[in-house]
Amino acid sequence: MRWTPYAFSALLAPSIHALLRFSCSQLVIERLDPLVNPGELQSPHLHQIIGGNAFNASMDPSVAPPDLATCTTCTFAEDFSNYWTAVLFFRARNGTFKRVPIKGNVGFEQSQGGMTVYYTPTIQMGKPREKITAFKKGFRMIVGNPTYRTETEAKRFRQLTYTCLQNMNTRTGETLDFPKKPCPAGIMANVRFPTCWDGVNLDSPDHMSHVAYPSSGTFESDGPCPASHPIKIPQLFYEVIWDTTKFNDMSLWPEDGSQPFIWSFGDATGYGNHGDYVFGWKDNALQKAMDSNCYINCPELKSQSITEGNKCAQQQKVKENIDGWLTELPGGQMVN
Ligand SMILES: *[C@@H]1O[C@H](CO)[C@@H](O)[C@H](O)[C@H]1NC(C)=O
Ligand SMILES: *[C@@H]1O[C@H](CO)[C@@H](O)[C@H](O)[C@H]1NC(C)=O
Repeated sequence: MRWTPYAFSALLAPSIHALLRFSCSQLVIERLDPLVNPGELQSPHLHQIIGGNAFNASMDPSVAPPDLATCTTCTFAEDFSNYWTAVLFFRARNGTFKRVPIKGNVGFEQSQGGMTVYYTPTIQMGKPREKITAFKKGFRMIVGNPTYRTETEAKRFRQLTYTCLQNMNTRTGETLDFPKKPCPAGIMANVRFPTCWDGVNLDSPDHMSHVAYPSSGTFESDGPCPASHPIKIPQLFYEVIWDTTKFNDMSLWPEDGSQPFIWSFGDATGYGNHGDYVFGWKDNALQKAMDSNCYINCPELKSQSITEGNKCAQQQKVKENIDGWLTELPGGQMVN
C-alpha cells in the first residue's frame, strides 16, 4: 500500500493559509503515558516525548500546559504541547536489543532527536478560504493502535506510514509496514491525525472517537467532514527519522532475511504505528497562526532557535537503562 504525499509547492497557491512546519527536539525518552496510563509511574512501553516540560505521568486537562511549563523543545516558543510516539529498537541475531537513534530532519539537523511537526489546514485548491478551528485547551487525541499486526487492521487508520529514506529528501514510496530492505538514510515514521472534530469533546474514552476522517475522499482531496464530526481541524502530522544506518549491514539481520526493527511495544511488523497528542499552545497562538497566511515560518508566532529548544530536556522519571545492548525491551515487552 503506497501513499503519494502532496507536493509542498502545490500549497503555495494563494488561497492556502497557514501551514506550520517546525522542529521539536527530544524532551525525554521514557515509560510514561498520561493519556493511556494516567498517573502510572511506568507505562507499559517506552516513548520519545517532545514539547513543553509540563509533561508528566498525569496531566490535568483543566490546566493549560503553558501555565506549568517553563520551556519547550519546539522552535515555536509558544507551543508547550506534548507529542509522543513509541521508540524503535534493533534486534541483533543474539536476541539483544539496541535503541535506534533519532536524527533531525532536513533543515533541522541541529535538533537533539525529536520530530518534525506540521499543522496543515485543509487543502483547498482554488476555493475561497474557510475557517479552520485550532485545537482548544484540554484537547488530546491518539491515532493508531499498538496491538495491530496486520495490514487489514492498519488500514482502519489512514496515513500511518514509513518512508524508506534513500536520502534525506526522499518523500515517496510510503508503506504501512516496516521497509523490508536496508534504507540508506534511515526510516522516517509518518503519523497523520484525523482532521474532523465533533466540536464538543476535548477527549474521549478511547482518545479517538471525538475525531474522524473525512466522510468521502481524503484530507488531501479536501473531502467533507461527516455530520457527526463537522468541524475541520488542522491536520497534525509528525515525522520521526530513525537513524537505522549503522544497522544496515544485512549480515547483522535475521538469517531468514526479515527486517530487524522492533517498536518498543514489541511490534516487528510496523502495523502498530501510533502517536499521541496533548494540546498546549499558549492562549490563541495556534488559532492566530491558522487564520494567517504564514507558510512554514510564521512571523506572527514567537520563535526560538533549535539549540535553545535542545536545552529544555527533562530528567527521566522512570529510571531504567534504555541504551546499551538490552536483553529485553524496557518494561519487559515481548516481541509478538
Ligand atoms: C509531576 O507530577 C508529580 C505528582 O504526580 C508532581 O509532584 C510533580 O511536580 C509534577 N512535575 C511537573 C513537572 O509538573
Ligand atoms: C549481541 O550482538 C550485538 C551485535 O552484534 C553485540 O554488539 C553484542 O555484544 C552481543 N551480545 C552478546 C551478549 O553476545
